[in-house]
Amino acid sequence: MGHKHNSKRPAGISGGRRAIVPVEKPKDMKHTLKRLWEYFKYEKFKLFIVFMLVIVSGLLNLTAPFLIGKAVDFIFPGKGFVEFVKLKKIIILLISIYMLNSLLIFLQEYMVAGLSQRVVYNIRESIFSKLQKLSLVFFDTHTHGELMSRLTNDVDNISVTISQSIIQLMSSVVNIVGSLIMMIYLSPIMTVVSLITVPMVYVLTKTIANKTKILFKEQQDALGVLNGHIEETIGGIYEVKIFNKEDKVIDEFIQNNKVLKEVGVQAQIWSGFIMPLMNVISNFGFTVVAIFGGILSVKGKISVGVIASFISYSKQFTKPLNELASTFNTLQSGIAGAERVFEILDEQEERKDFEDAIAAKDIKGEVEFKNVSFQYEEGKPVLKNISFKVKPGDTVALVGPTGAGKTTIVNLLTGFYEVEKGEILIDGINIKKYKKDSLREIFGIVLQDTYLFSGTIKENIKYGRLDATDDEIKRAAKIAGADDFINRLSHGYNTMLYEGGMNLSEGQRQLIAIARVVLAEPSILILDEATSNIDTRTEFKIQKAMEKLMENRTTFMIAHRLSTIRDADMIMVIDKGQIIEKGNHKELLSQKGIYYNLYTSQFVDVG
Ligand code: GTP
Ligand code: MG
Repeated sequence: MGHKHNSKRPAGISGGRRAIVPVEKPKDMKHTLKRLWEYFKYEKFKLFIVFMLVIVSGLLNLTAPFLIGKAVDFIFPGKGFVEFVKLKKIIILLISIYMLNSLLIFLQEYMVAGLSQRVVYNIRESIFSKLQKLSLVFFDTHTHGELMSRLTNDVDNISVTISQSIIQLMSSVVNIVGSLIMMIYLSPIMTVVSLITVPMVYVLTKTIANKTKILFKEQQDALGVLNGHIEETIGGIYEVKIFNKEDKVIDEFIQNNKVLKEVGVQAQIWSGFIMPLMNVISNFGFTVVAIFGGILSVKGKISVGVIASFISYSKQFTKPLNELASTFNTLQSGIAGAERVFEILDEQEERKDFEDAIAAKDIKGEVEFKNVSFQYEEGKPVLKNISFKVKPGDTVALVGPTGAGKTTIVNLLTGFYEVEKGEILIDGINIKKYKKDSLREIFGIVLQDTYLFSGTIKENIKYGRLDATDDEIKRAAKIAGADDFINRLSHGYNTMLYEGGMNLSEGQRQLIAIARVVLAEPSILILDEATSNIDTRTEFKIQKAMEKLMENRTTFMIAHRLSTIRDADMIMVIDKGQIIEKGNHKELLSQKGIYYNLYTSQFVDVG
């Protein structure tokens, strides 16, 4: 019953009780463990010490009941008096054993905490650097939420659950085997008697576990539905209000909430059965052992002390036995988490540079597409056999309806995605032959929604060229027309930007992006919808800055507003992944085709 998609464990369901949580099973446990070992092996020595500590403290644990039995026999030696001297020795010994054991357990925890955090640290680091090397195709097919959860939850789970449950498994085994040996040593007959309850416990837990497993799965599904509903209504709160859907949304919520409550109650009740039932059974076991032991003792076959020891051992025997299954489940889900993490580490990285790759230097900016076809997803062609050539320094405008493939053309040119069919040449050389780093450096990109990093404005501009001096940064900002507003900010160039630059207006963010590109001095410029949603004054500023940038630079410009692209050397009208018209403004107008229609209709719209 593995449902691998349930990465979240039902929070708050167990409520301190031993709950049976749906278990995820790893697909290939052996293989995953082997890979995990790669991370744990640096801690080999420490792991070994931890295991030794576990075994020693397990053995110490086993001596206590035996000593207690002895102590009882010194109190009732059948001679009419208490053997105080021997009793005192045993008590001191017991106290020392308990103290030593606590110390050993503390040491274990201490070492495990350190080593598991170091392992997590390394795994986190390898995933994060892996993410940076993956191609964009990977990010198209994985949600941010999913990646976040792998990088945080799954990774944390790995080392903590795995190391802790391994320790628990080990100490359980030591306890079970040790107690069994001691029980047989003390009294073989009583051992047989006390083992009667073991199959009972097994059958019972199995039955209830199966039932609760189903219920918890239902509970998790109901929780998923409820969460989805919450997410949708809060994310779309604006729409909910506009369309007056508050009441409908509340009704839906009440319905989902009710379902969750009902399964929740069932799940709790069933999982709540387990502990009391176990108690009944184990008390029943004790009773049997006590009665049977009593009879044997009266007959003089065993001492009272043996009964006392025996009861302790049978407890030490059954408790870990009952826990074994759930510990194993925890271990399994930890390993399943590890598997998800390794899946990322196994993803194909972006292609590495070819051995004979050349650095893109002193690029003039000639661009040619030769029969380029492309698809993001199998069977859904986005670009179909695109061919065109751009002279160095020319400005190309891409126009066409939304979803036509304009951004895709740019994505291929910059090498964010690789073409499957056809070739893209820059200065006559296939872009695959350039070193990737150097290829990215020849482009300057200004997007509509500019992403700024958290940091100062200065740092954000400097991102264009990391070795730029403060003077160069200021000059770039001046050219971009950003200097004025930056100086008006309270901390000028050292003003901190929040993540994404949310404390600036859209236009201001764009000016900073332009300054960044000015600083970078790219050979080819890409402006995707660069001027929209801005007030006319800022737009004018941006326009001026752009014009300066575009001088003597090959420029690709994507704009819906035709007025901004009239001066382009070449206009390409893209529709459904094909170039349907190509030429300059005058030529296209005289053709009286699609461009003509677009242009005239826009001018009518604008008034
Ligand atoms: P606008 O920016 O809206 O004007 O459109 P565009 O001409 O820039 O379209 P774009 O090139 O972004 O998209 C062309 C087609 O490719 C559309 O049908 C999209 O659905 C699809 N597409 C774009 N990006 C992706 C992506 O990352 N993954 C997948 N699978 N499809 C994509
Ligand atoms: Mg686009």
